[in-house]
This record gives sequence, structure tokens and C-alpha cells, in this order.
Amino acid sequence: MSIQMVDLRGQYLRIKDEVDAGIARILESTNFIRGSELTAFEAELSAQLDDVGTLGVANGTDALQIAFMALGIGPGDEVITPSFTFVATAEAIGLLGATPVFADIDPKTFNIDPSAIESLITERTKAIVPVHLFGQCADLDPILELGCNHNLAVVEDTAQAVGARYKGRAAGTMGGFGTLSFFPSKNLGCYGDGGAVLSSIPEWLDQARLISNHGSKKKYHNEVIGVNSRLDAIQAAILRAKLPHLDAFTADRQHAADRYDALLADVDAIETPHRADYGTHVFHQYTIRVRGNDADRRDALMAHLNAAGIPCYVYYPIPLHLLPIYKDNPDSCRFGDMTHTLQAANEVLSLPMHTELTADQQEQVASAIKGFFGV
Ligand SMILES: Cc1ncc(COP(=O)(O)O)c(C=O)c1O
Repeated sequence: MSIQMVDLRGQYLRIKDEVDAGIARILESTNFIRGSELTAFEAELSAQLDDVGTLGVANGTDALQIAFMALGIGPGDEVITPSFTFVATAEAIGLLGATPVFADIDPKTFNIDPSAIESLITERTKAIVPVHLFGQCADLDPILELGCNHNLAVVEDTAQAVGARYKGRAAGTMGGFGTLSFFPSKNLGCYGDGGAVLSSIPEWLDQARLISNHGSKKKYHNEVIGVNSRLDAIQAAILRAKLPHLDAFTADRQHAADRYDALLADVDAIETPHRADYGTHVFHQYTIRVRGNDADRRDALMAHLNAAGIPCYVYYPIPLHLLPIYKDNPDSCRFGDMTHTLQAANEVLSLPMHTELTADQQEQVASAIKGFFGV
């Protein structure tokens, strides 16, 4: 079996009966939009995540946009977020006419550095959006404290970290809002697009629910400008089949990460992922650094692995503040010192990571890496 970056089919075959039964249930009922399947999934997701309030939406990008709309974020406002992340976070801010303000990262965790945030706060700042990158939480307590002290909302982008814990608390449940993505390759992925908004503040979640449904609670009584963003019933049924397996899937990923750590321990040219002592890592990605701050050297390793039939990717090669959207429009963002962000973009490489990865496959990956460095 060839090595894959993500093996969705292998995982599906393990839980096929449960998934197929869920899809068949919806086809039989023809209850495709909203309805009891979505309500049941929202309740089960809530139980999994420390009883936080949940709202299923169409994807993780919508979840961010809806959270920002519920907070009233709009033109003239600023939102602080990392630059070393996927574009969706900043995109949702810009779409509402607000300005992303990019902060540098902690080089150990790749997550926003709490100590880089305060100097970026102005009277226009409305929110801080930490992204729990690669499956590990940002150091949230100091960020929540900044939020409290400066009256700023904290929105946790938890697209990559469902199931992770920070000091015992579930990722996505600690800020005013949390957001999830159920994109197929995510740790809890559906078989299409999906996402969720999380909040422990009932009025905030109500506002998000209103916005996600064309701004109306009662049909044809639209109260605010909203969007049409729903988690399909078929996707909810698939997620209901997968949710009871999430803890086991997480354990599979953690087990695979431990194996990589052991296999790569003697390769001095690379750095394996750091596990912060404040929480758990659910390894959405297993991301190594190729030491030396040299993208060419990292890219040479990637080409060597690809030639050996091993897929691997750079998440993310271009920090957001250097993307054409922002670079070519200097007024469209602000940013602080980006030393660690730039170095990460030159050094990171994500190796195959999924619930079906075998010891034999991981040994092949490790031996190809060792071959490149002559270890
Ligand atoms: C950090 C982060 N935020 C947001 C998103 C957006 O999620 P979606 O693709 O479901 O819109 C992603 C998806 O890749 C992501 O990785």
C-alpha cells in the first residue's frame, strides 16, 4: 500500500457500516436540510466538548465569518491573528471590511506568541484570533487575560485542533467563540464541507444562529443581514457516525507521532514537534523543522522524499502578510516583527499523518529522511 498524506478511504472502510447507515437514514427520511439529524449532532458535539454550545454551519471559513459578524466586526475594526496560518482566518476578517493585524509566533509551537500581541492593540482592535495550528493549542491564558484587560473578544480558530486540551479544557471552548472545520482531511472530517461555531455564552451563540439563517429566527421575519450557512443533514449523519471514534482516532495520531519522534530522534538536522506542557497535541499535522532557516534545503528534502514515493507538504510556505492580497495592498493589513514566522516558513515540512499510518510506512519515511542527511 503506497504511503498517503491522508488515508480517508482506509478510515472509511473501518467504520463503513455506521457511516452508510447514517447516510441511508437521511436518504430514507429526505430530511436533507436542518432537522433532527443536525440537532442530534450539535448535542453530541457539545457533550464531547465540555458542554459548550454548538451551531453546525457550512464550513470552517463561514464559522469564522459568522462569529465575527455576531461580534459586530466591520469596517474600521482591527483583529489580531497570526500570519503563519491558512488564509481563511484573515480572509473572513477582510471580507467584513476589517483589517487583519498579524502577530509573530512562538517558534516552539508555531502558534501566536502572546507576548507579541499587546503592542499591536489599538483603540480599533476588536478581537484576538489565536489559531490552534497543527493540532496544539496556543498558550491561551495570557491571551484571554489580554482580552479581558482590553475588552477584546477572543475567537479560537480550532479548525485543526478538535479534541486537543489546554490545561484540561477542550480547545475551542475557552474564548467567547470557537470555530471548527469538518473539511474531509481534518481530525473530525465529514465527506464534503462542514464547520461549527462554538460558544459558552448563550446570547452570542443565538446571535450566530440568527446570522447563519439569513438573519431570521422566524421565517420571513429577517432581523439582521445574515448568510445562508448550514451543515447538511447528510454531513451531520456522517459526523455522528465518526464522533464516537474521535478519541480513538486522536490516540492513533498520537501513537504515530510518538513513533516518528523515536525514529527521528537521532537526526540532528531536523527538529521534531514540540509538545507544550500546558496541553495535549492531537497531531492534525506532524510538522518537522529542517534546521538552518534555508527553504532550498527544506525543499531539497521534500523533493528527495517525493522521489522515494513519500508525500509531504509545506504548511505554510508564504506567511499571510507576504501574500499578494496583502503585499500589493499595504493598507489592507498591519503586522509586527515577523522573525519567527519567516523562519518557520523556511523550515517546516509536514510528514504523512493519519489514523491508518503503519509502523512499516513510518519506518520508510524515517529511513528516506535519514538517507537524505546521511545518518
Ligand atoms: C486554521 C484554519 N482555519 C480555517 C479553515 C477553514 O476551514 P474550511 O476549509 O472548512 O472553510 C482551515 C481549513 O483548512 C484552517 O486550517
